[in-house]
Amino acid sequence: MRGFGSLLVLAAIPAALAVKSHDFKTCSQAGFCRRGRALSARAAENPSWRSPYSVDASSVALSPDQASFTAAIKSSIYPDVKFSLDVRIHDDGVVRVRMDEVDGLRKRYDEAASWALLEEPKVSQKVQWTVAKDSVKAVYGAKNDIEVKVAFEPLKVTLFRGGKEQVVLNNRGLLHMEHFRTKESVPKSKETVPVPEEGLDTEDGVQAVLGVHPRAAWFEGEQEDGWWEETFNSFTDPKPKGPESLSLDIDFPNHGHVYGIPQHATRLDLPTTTGENAHYTDPYRLFNADVFEYLADSTMSLYGSIPFMHAHSADSTVGIFNAIASDTWIDLGHPSPKSTTSHWISETGILDVFILPGPTPADIFTQYTRLTGTPALPAHWSLGYHQCRWNYVSSEDVRSVQKRFDEEDIPVDVFWLDIEYSEEHKYFIWDKRHFPDPVDMIKDVEAIGRKMVIIIDPHLKRTDNYPVYKQATELGILVKKGDGLTDYEGWCWSGSSAWVDYFHPGSWDWWKSLFKTEQHGDQWSWLESTVNTGIWNDMNEPAIFNGPEISMPRENIHYGGWEHRDLHNINGMLFANLTSQAVMARTDPPKRPFVLTRSFYAGSQRFGAMWTGDNLGTWEHMAVGVKMVLANNIAGFSFSGSDLGGFFGNPEPEMLVRWYAVAIFSPFMRAHAHIDTKRREPYLLDDPYKGIVRNMLRLRYSMLPVWYTAFREASVTGLPVLRPHFVAFPRDERGFSLDDQYFVGSSGLLVKPVTRKGVTEETVYLPAEDQVYYDYFNHNAYRSDAKGKEITVPAELHQIPVFVRGGSIVSTRERPRRSSPLMRRDPFTLRVALGKDSSARGELYLDDGETFSHQQGELVWREFVAEKPAKKSKGVRISSRNLATQKPTEAVDHVALATYDSGNAFAKAIADVRVEKIVVLGLPTKPSSVAVEGGKELQWTYTDGVAASDKKEGTASVLVIRDPKLAVASDWDILVKA
Ligand code: GLC
Repeated sequence: MRGFGSLLVLAAIPAALAVKSHDFKTCSQAGFCRRGRALSARAAENPSWRSPYSVDASSVALSPDQASFTAAIKSSIYPDVKFSLDVRIHDDGVVRVRMDEVDGLRKRYDEAASWALLEEPKVSQKVQWTVAKDSVKAVYGAKNDIEVKVAFEPLKVTLFRGGKEQVVLNNRGLLHMEHFRTKESVPKSKETVPVPEEGLDTEDGVQAVLGVHPRAAWFEGEQEDGWWEETFNSFTDPKPKGPESLSLDIDFPNHGHVYGIPQHATRLDLPTTTGENAHYTDPYRLFNADVFEYLADSTMSLYGSIPFMHAHSADSTVGIFNAIASDTWIDLGHPSPKSTTSHWISETGILDVFILPGPTPADIFTQYTRLTGTPALPAHWSLGYHQCRWNYVSSEDVRSVQKRFDEEDIPVDVFWLDIEYSEEHKYFIWDKRHFPDPVDMIKDVEAIGRKMVIIIDPHLKRTDNYPVYKQATELGILVKKGDGLTDYEGWCWSGSSAWVDYFHPGSWDWWKSLFKTEQHGDQWSWLESTVNTGIWNDMNEPAIFNGPEISMPRENIHYGGWEHRDLHNINGMLFANLTSQAVMARTDPPKRPFVLTRSFYAGSQRFGAMWTGDNLGTWEHMAVGVKMVLANNIAGFSFSGSDLGGFFGNPEPEMLVRWYAVAIFSPFMRAHAHIDTKRREPYLLDDPYKGIVRNMLRLRYSMLPVWYTAFREASVTGLPVLRPHFVAFPRDERGFSLDDQYFVGSSGLLVKPVTRKGVTEETVYLPAEDQVYYDYFNHNAYRSDAKGKEITVPAELHQIPVFVRGGSIVSTRERPRRSSPLMRRDPFTLRVALGKDSSARGELYLDDGETFSHQQGELVWREFVAEKPAKKSKGVRISSRNLATQKPTEAVDHVALATYDSGNAFAKAIADVRVEKIVVLGLPTKPSSVAVEGGKELQWTYTDGVAASDKKEGTASVLVIRDPKLAVASDWDILVKA
């Protein structure tokens, strides 16, 4: 069977797949990036450099409520070209700065924000702008300590807090919005050009003779570098609109660390690309691309782009969301250890920058997700283990893989089908030779509460016997070539293919109709699937094997006449967005959709999960995958993961086992492998590896309540599921560059997966705080202090460094099951990790896991608290309270979380779900009694050990309370008397 699978498809892999990094541009191979860097170099060399852009003071117009203002911008190098500025402050303090060319020859692309934003943000009515002779200013914030100043001459926008510069736009005068021009209008060689009134110096005179606008030359350079056309490899990019790039410097004079702008295979604390000791030579690039065998340490662009950056220091965090969708390069520098410069160079688009004032990382997440949305609350099953490979080759193959998992008692929730399920890669259409009974096969998987996820790629095979292609052609919704008329044709898995233009409103309902599992009129739809089937959207950058940089020609035309270059980075998001709407529309009432996307943009978090694409089965890739997932988490997109095991290659057992440890502590956990690799399902491992992996997967399943609660918090507050150290401890400078250990939600779990070969020990950094951290497995208590502390812990192959921060209560379900839906009624274990003040707290969120009834209040949201019953007491009171009624909150996405009735139908349905065990770590003495308040003595055991309140290290004392017969969803108190 196996050999047959690969033979079947090897023939179908076009040679073009074998691409290498020379298929992708470096900055010096992209005209606009060269121009941007050259501009920056000229500025750096010229001490009297001054931005030519200024605000025309006479044009400043405050809105009637004085909450925003507009102004005309002039450029001294092109006095007759007009620009407009629009600055506003939202009700949460975010500043939006927009600049566009006015009355130009054409219109710049201005729709990026409208795709990324949840809705048009509300402008604050409280902020008042005041206009002075040389600037416009606004002062606001709870402490009135934030000031935004727009200086006129030259144009400069600064956000100050407490009088300190936080973010400065055009600080170094690199702002340049190349205006639209015609080839003819540009002065030709030896043409006389009008001399500006102030006259020219000699150098300018020489440039006039050379034929460049005399004022432009010092600023724009002497050459028309790649203005009208450029060639890369064998591809010519005609640029019918001419130069229209946007360069902008954004400086953080008081922040020494910047994070974000995924996706790059690099460290979380982004290394520099400029300055004497620049770590990289090329800028970070945001241009969604299918990079074959990508490097594990590089600024090259990858499959997705989120132009959102955090700048951090011990006393302040600020953020920038640069709503741009075209190819963008970002240079970073640290002129001093405590300051950062950034230079953003984009091919097209208006300037539309959101400045997030912070001042804490938590504030940044709230501000960012109010703009672009919080992550969708995933279906509970999708947090389980996903088993994928390219490919499970037949229905029988799928059934036998499921059988093997069950025989070996290894939990799994989802089986995936890659492209070979489809006939000639016509997605939706089953290859009946190998999948004769698709619906029966899916139902066999669903019978055990499991699900299937099936791939639907965006390239449509151009053949009349493919209804999807045929209909898209008839509807006129395919992406067009540069002529705007002819359907574009390119090469992908399905051979000669066409691409739906998802920007075309005519595609939206049609795409949704394809996913219906019941017949609706004559419309073709996917009857041979089930309403529970999840969807995998791949190749949506879009990947095109014979296209420039393995993607779509930039001159291609989308709806509204926009060129592909204008909206490239949004393309993949739209495809997954529509697919997720389509999946949701299959049932009424809808179920939570599961859609995995490879390509993404700001806002993609609202629609599903992402993964980091085709990684390699190497230790470097395993390690960088952790950093990439962290970068995604802090960029709003928590539901992320990397191919477990590495896509390419055959990991040796040690590597595979370590990769399972990485994956079980990753929000999205899917094993995947290239078609040429050997099978590596966990049941194929020999012992002890197999047993170790089984235990690891069981650990993940036992912690599903932690993950689900963290996802729920993310979906409401925008706080990420994985929290790197700078997020959890924003003032602890020693942790600002840490990106190989992190916290899971607010649970207090600190994890450091091992990503190196041959390791038996690992060092873990404990945050700078006076606190106890318990080893999750053996309850060893470690102490940190105000300086932070590195500890060395055992990390043999079967061990994962996982700690519980003192002061946390962690809820788990510890009965091994074959899939997560089978755990629905399982009892809970509470791990009460007492903090140094002998208290602890934790939350647990539950709902039906698959519908939207939680939005109507069908949920259970508990708070567990452990406290001393009296100040000097050595005992503890452990109580369970209903948070849903106590803590009404307004979600970031404006869904008011009303106080819920604790007797809602879901809560009633799980009324008999118990707490079966409570483990209390760090009690100072053996209890004299343990009883439910007002009730009988409970069954308990106590092992003496280190107390939370001691300064000592060593095995903590452990009190185990067995089967207290308490319902997880009701209020109760347990009294542990000393
Ligand atoms: C791409 C995907 C990979 C998938 C393959 C075949 O390379 O990134 O995950 O298996 O295409 O569909």
